[in-house]
Amino acid sequence: MTSIKAAITGVSCWLPEDKLTNADIEKMVDTTNEWIMERSGVSERRILRDPNKGSAFMGAEASKLLFEKKNIDPLTIDLIICATATPEMQFPATANIISDMIGTKRAWSFDLKGACSGFIYALQVGRQFIETGTHKRVLVIGTDKMSSIVDYTDRGTCILFGDGAGAVLLEPDTTGTGILDASMYSDGAGRFSLYQPAGGSLRPATEETVRNREHFIKMSGQGVFKMAVEKMADVAEEMMVKNHLESKDISFLVPHQANKRIIDATANRMGIGSEKVMLNIQKYGNTTTATLPICLSEWENQLKRGDNIILTTFGAGFTWGGMYIKWAYDKVKKDPSLENAVPTEHSSSL
Ligand code: UT7
Repeated sequence: MTSIKAAITGVSCWLPEDKLTNADIEKMVDTTNEWIMERSGVSERRILRDPNKGSAFMGAEASKLLFEKKNIDPLTIDLIICATATPEMQFPATANIISDMIGTKRAWSFDLKGACSGFIYALQVGRQFIETGTHKRVLVIGTDKMSSIVDYTDRGTCILFGDGAGAVLLEPDTTGTGILDASMYSDGAGRFSLYQPAGGSLRPATEETVRNREHFIKMSGQGVFKMAVEKMADVAEEMMVKNHLESKDISFLVPHQANKRIIDATANRMGIGSEKVMLNIQKYGNTTTATLPICLSEWENQLKRGDNIILTTFGAGFTWGGMYIKWAYDKVKKDPSLENAVPTEHSSSL
């Protein structure tokens, strides 16, 4: 019997046009461009300024671009899994709202929370529905309006995060490409190292929680940094060892974009050069669940069928994971004038 793999057969992303540069942040908190660049690698981030738009809007835009690019009828989507740390609202799920925005009337849909590892977790979940043969088209979305929970008076966190969304389509593959292996982890003992204290059932919103700024991200930067360096590299190495991959066999590393130093350490452990590392943290900062699909979308034109790529993430929880994918397709032929274009609020097609 031929085994069914889940393959990524299309990818797209959407980023707001407005930029928040290091020069802007220098005016908001006590920091410098040099410090931010040296300690994190971030130069600017995108911010969704429209107060009437949230994570669902960005996820829907990324999905619509994917449908356009692949000429997909929304009614052929079976399932939507939306990874987000900044849901449109507490409930219903952001995936339900996106489903309405993009017209996937036949699909069921739910959110998945895994903080910065949410997207890789969602891929791992979506993969199961394809491999069992019960679903033919699973849309996996990562979308985060981080600016809605960033404290722009806290220099330890406001330098890092940005807004954005990405979406991939998973479909069955029987030719040997697709998601070939993955390892997922979590350790809730790390929950107070990176979290949003209030707004949940433990600490519902009160005047006090608002006054104490408890609805914003709190992070013990150094502790998270040390764990991230260790775990992202560990799981990337695990993927290589388990699948008998040497450095020369890897086409690309797709790392979560939390800090350039963490990414460099992971690439060093894998023994690969910077030319094989998808790195765009300088332009977008940490978009949480959206970093991986944004990278895949930006590098899509360079990916070839059969390429070995390793995805790796670390995030709040703690959560972390790695995935080995044999890429399923060569770049989509399209108008050369649009090559390398990243869709923004004013660009409706890739
Ligand atoms: O995606 C989820 C996973 N998230 C992460 O992986 C983020 C992990 N953490 C980090 O990326 C880093 O910890 C940061 C970039 C947030 C901070 O870098 P660091 O090298 O760990 O700095 P630190 O927190 O150890 O702070 C060193 C010093 C402190 O001053 P003192 O106490 O030594 O006087 C901070 O107050 O740097 C100070 N500092 C700053 N100085 C200028 C902290 N933030 C800033 C800032 N500008 N923005």
